[in-house]
Parts: sequence; C-alpha cells; structure tokens
Amino acid sequence: MSETTELYYPNRELAKEARIKNMCEYEDLVKWAEEDYEGFWAHYAKEKLDWFELFDEEKVLDESDFPFVKWFGGGKLNVAYQCIDRHLDKRKNKAAIIWEGDRGDKRIITYLELYQEVNRFANLLKNEFGVKKGDRVVIYMPMIPEAAFAMLACARIGAIHSVVFGGFSAEALRDRIIDAEAKVVITADGAYRKDKPYMLKPVVDVALEEETPVEKVLVVERNNEEIAWVKGRDYSYNELIQTQSATCKPEVMESEDPLFLLYTSGSTGKPKGVQHNQAGYILWAQMTMEWVFDVKENDTYWCTADIGWITGHTYIVYGPLAMGATTVMFEGVPTYPDAGRPWKMVEEYRINQFYTAPTAIRVLHKMGEEEPSKYDLSSLKVLGTVGEPIDPPAWKWYYEVVGGGRCAIVDTYWQTETGGHIVSPLPFATPIKPACATLPLPGIFGEILDPQTGERVPVGEKGYMCVTKPWPSMIRGVWGDPERFKKSYFGDVKKNGKPVYFTGDGAVYDELGYITITGRTDDVINVSGHRLGTAEIEAAIKKHPNVAEVAVVGKPHEIKGESIFAYVVLKDDEGLGDEVAEMKAINAVIKSEIGNIALCDDIAFVPGLPKTRSGKIMRRILRAIAKGEPITQDTSTLEDPSVVEKIQTIVNK
Ligand code: WT7
Repeated sequence: MSETTELYYPNRELAKEARIKNMCEYEDLVKWAEEDYEGFWAHYAKEKLDWFELFDEEKVLDESDFPFVKWFGGGKLNVAYQCIDRHLDKRKNKAAIIWEGDRGDKRIITYLELYQEVNRFANLLKNEFGVKKGDRVVIYMPMIPEAAFAMLACARIGAIHSVVFGGFSAEALRDRIIDAEAKVVITADGAYRKDKPYMLKPVVDVALEEETPVEKVLVVERNNEEIAWVKGRDYSYNELIQTQSATCKPEVMESEDPLFLLYTSGSTGKPKGVQHNQAGYILWAQMTMEWVFDVKENDTYWCTADIGWITGHTYIVYGPLAMGATTVMFEGVPTYPDAGRPWKMVEEYRINQFYTAPTAIRVLHKMGEEEPSKYDLSSLKVLGTVGEPIDPPAWKWYYEVVGGGRCAIVDTYWQTETGGHIVSPLPFATPIKPACATLPLPGIFGEILDPQTGERVPVGEKGYMCVTKPWPSMIRGVWGDPERFKKSYFGDVKKNGKPVYFTGDGAVYDELGYITITGRTDDVINVSGHRLGTAEIEAAIKKHPNVAEVAVVGKPHEIKGESIFAYVVLKDDEGLGDEVAEMKAINAVIKSEIGNIALCDDIAFVPGLPKTRSGKIMRRILRAIAKGEPITQDTSTLEDPSVVEKIQTIVNK
C-alpha cells in the first residue's frame, strides 16, 4: 500500500496568489522558527499587530517560570483596537459581520458600525454597570451580532469575558459564574431555532436564584418573548444603549493581561477556566486566519461554530476581525429548513471559505447527499473541518461534492487550550490526504512522543500529541488553580527531562511525517465536537437519588462521532420494571446539571462495575462492551470477574 497515491494536490491557479504558495515556502518558515525562534515570533508580532508601545526585544519570550510563560514583555496594545480601529482607514465601509438569522433575516455591520456598536456597548458596561479592567463578565448569548459586540466591548475596556455556551443548563452556568467570580452577566431574552423562539434569560434567572457574585444582568431583547425582570438587577440593553456615546478610548493593556476565560472539560473534576491573554492570542488568531484560510481582502468567510466554543472565539470573532476580513455569523441550524441551507447561503453570499465540524458534514451528507449540486458553490476555495477526527467517507463527500474537487480541505487540529490551529494543512501548499491533519504549522513544535521515553514515535506507532516549545497563543493558566494547570498539561510527558505540553490526544505519523489524530487518550468524550468529561457526567448522574454507582464511556456514533453510554448501579432496583422511566429520570438530571449536549443515548442498569481490587473502574472493558467487541483483556484481576459477563448479557439483550 502506498500512502502517497491518496494525496490530493493543491489548486495551482489559486496557489499563485496564496500567502504560502508551496512546500518550499512552508519549509523555509519552519526552518526560520527552528533557527531563530524568538526572532521569528518577534518579526510577526511587529508586522501583524499595532502596538501602543512596542514590546521589549529582550523579552520576546520569558520562560523563567515555566510552564507559566510570558510573551512580548513590555508591549502595550488593545485587542478591540486590533480588530476594529486600525481598519477604519482602509475599510470603514467594508462588511465586518454579515449576520443571518434563523428565519432568514439579515444584518450587515460595517467596520465603522462595529466601531460604534462596540464603543456604545463598552460605555454601557463602564458607565452604567461600573465594569473595570480585570473584572469578569459572563456572556450567555445566542448567535446574534450583539454577542460579538459584547466580547469586543469587554476587550475594549480590559474586562475579562467568559462566554458560556447557550446550551448549558442553569447549574452549569452558575458553576462558571461562581468560579470566575463574575459580577455581570450579558444575555438575551432568547432567539430562534427552526423558526421557533427558544429562551435564555429564564435560565439565567434560575442560575441566579442561589447566591452568586452577580450584581447586574444585561438583556438584549432579540425575540421579544415575555421574560421576568428583577428590579435593580436586570436591565434592557435596547434601552440603555440608546444614550451611550459612540466613542470610547481603548484601555491600554499589557501583552500578558488576561483577555478571556473559556471553560472546558477535563478528565477529572469540574470544568477548567482556560485563560488566554492579549498579545499572543490575537497574534496567532490573525496569523492562522491568514495562513490556514488564506482569506483575501474581498473574500467572505463563514465559520459555523457557536461563539460559546473556542472556534467561535478565534475563528468567528477575533481572527477574522483582526485581519480585517468579512465574517459571516449564523443564528440557525444547518438542516433547517432543509439540508441545503448552508449551500444556499454559500451561493447567496458567495462564501469563499467555509469552516465547520465533521458532525455537521456527516449530517448534511446523510440528509442531503445531492443538496450541494443544486447551488452555485463556485465561490468556494477553502473548506475547513475541526473538532474531531473526520472519517474518510465524509471527507470525500466534502471534497468532491461540496468542493467540486477544486477546493482545499484544511483539517485543522487544535483545542481550547491552544488558542488557534496547531496542526493543519496550508490550503495551497500542503498535499492533503483524507482525514489527516498533516503537519504542524510553522512556529509550532508539534511532535508525537512516546510518553515513556519522551522520544518521537516511529511511523505507524501511536503516541502522545505534544508541543515541545511554548507558543504565543497557548493557555496561560487554569483560572484560580495554578497547580491544576501544571498537572493537567505538563505532568505526563517529558522530552530530554523537561516537561512538555501534552494535548490529551493520541496521534500517529505516516511515512510522509504527516500527523493523524486518533482521539483522546484520557476520559474525555467528544460528542458532536463538544468536549465532555466522563467525571463531569458521572457527577451529574450521581445526583439522582437512586444511583449508587455510575461509569460513563464513549461509544462510536455515526453522526455524533461519539455518544454517551452510562453503566448505572441503582441503590434500589426492586422497582426496575420500567427502565425507560428510569432512563428518562437520569437524563433529566443531566439536562438540569449540564444541558442537552450531555444526554446519554444508552443507559445500562447493571448489578456492579468492573473494578480492580484497588477500586479503579476498568473503563476499557466498558468501552469494549458498549461497542459490542470481545473483551481481550485479562479479567481475572478484577475484584469480581463474573460481573463482566453479567454486564455483557444485559447490554447484548
Ligand atoms: C479536542 C479539543 C478546536 C476547536 C473545537 C474543539 C479534538 C479538534 C480535531 C481534528 C481530530 C480534533 C481533539 C482535541 N479535535 N480538532 N482536526 N482532528 N480531533 O475544541 O472543545 O477544546 O476540543 O477536539 O480531541 O483535543 P475543544
């Protein structure tokens, strides 16, 4: 078998105009970063960012307190200024955001309008709510332009935003509010999905029923459904914004002042507040936009993510706006009114770069195999995927039917913690192969290491996906928990005796040196590209009063990638005549503790769990049973080996 026969080469015509035109240029950049790491980054930081005060050339990277690193010491800037003000000279009338609502309503916001909206918003937060530099603001919003305004308004005044995905429950929202000690929540009454209103403000109300640090709630009235207003706490954005001035001086921020927190799941405990800081983050957001999507001045770029996830932060808001691009924002779902919706939008807006998740590609493929051929998709140049490994059939459909065999596919590998892409093809340089993230981007020292030896793994052998040098957009900390930061990311792999950043993912090299990500090595489940910790789901299920023990594993799923399979031991299974009712009750607890994204597809009520004598649950056995695979592992060391067969009988019936 020759891997090379599977390669797809970049479009020669488009390559002529590309920022990185071929593999020689790629290799030159890689070499530059290898030979003069700090010089490489200092060059781009000067070229790409507008500094109020340039960083100290002696302080490009400070590793003295590794893994707590500092980039661009002494530099002063403002991220909202990077994303808006500096474009006004050349692009004041260019569309910054093109928004389409669920029901087909449209808004186009130019850079000048964005400037005014964000300034008014910033003034509102400052003057009406007393928000100051360093304060935390939780944003719990639907996909409307005000969500982006809110993020940029925080950045403008130096407040730290923490966007919480609108699908999270009141409990999950409250936990994040408390952990971040947020004093303001920005939300909306609700929005529309599949032509029907859905609500957010009532969720905020429940979250704030218990004691929290929140003093004020700002409500954007989007769908004008009836909501409750708490006097002295809740304020209408639509009213307060009227009287705000459209100028607001950007706060002068240090390179390493925090920009935002974004909570994400780990293998243990509660979600962690991943902290990103100013200069390094915005630099890499912009550079990867330029390199990986190769967006041109007149292009229209669309990323379908939700702003509640890192993809929405870096590749709907910060990256595109930092480079002065036109970014499309969509409120609805891709399959409504039918699975042709995205392709209709591509035709209508003449989208040039389209970025989505494998789970969406699988749904669109399954529900509308021929839909793309009904529309004119000839504007497309680059197609992106992110969030989970994409399977070759979905990749090929994306390539052939959506991309017409003409577009580059960039399978971008990264995570909340990396801030931006770390392993990805360059659309007009890298020969690609289906479902392969290919090579580390220039400046990123991504390597697959053997966790035992810290050496690079040989071709074809699975190892740990690591980054061996700190890079500008890397996570700066776990909010309020420096020990957890060290333990979670720098505890597992050492190279030449020095701890390196470990992503939590497994990966393999092929003979070209290309990297294929094989998935998480820890107890994190990836459901439709959403990252969920088994520990988190188990903790939720345990809140059900009749649950004695529970173990949760991921099970391969055609559309979602993985689905959640829970093994539950009930305290009292006398009444277990109605498993369906019990299952519903457990899912109801998950819904209220976390949200719909964490619902279990399967729940097996079992007499016990396979545990070692020291009490550790053998999840590998449970994963095999969920998949219907034979158990290859030695079960004789289990506390009660007979439990395995009992579980198998229950699951297979
Ligand atoms: C996890 C990060 C990165 C934005 C969306 C998710 C998985 C991400 C890929 C890819 C295979 C991928 C990894 C990673 N992942 N991109 N191209 N191929 N797996 O962000 O919630 O922080 O999740 O998503 O497992 O660790 P996140």
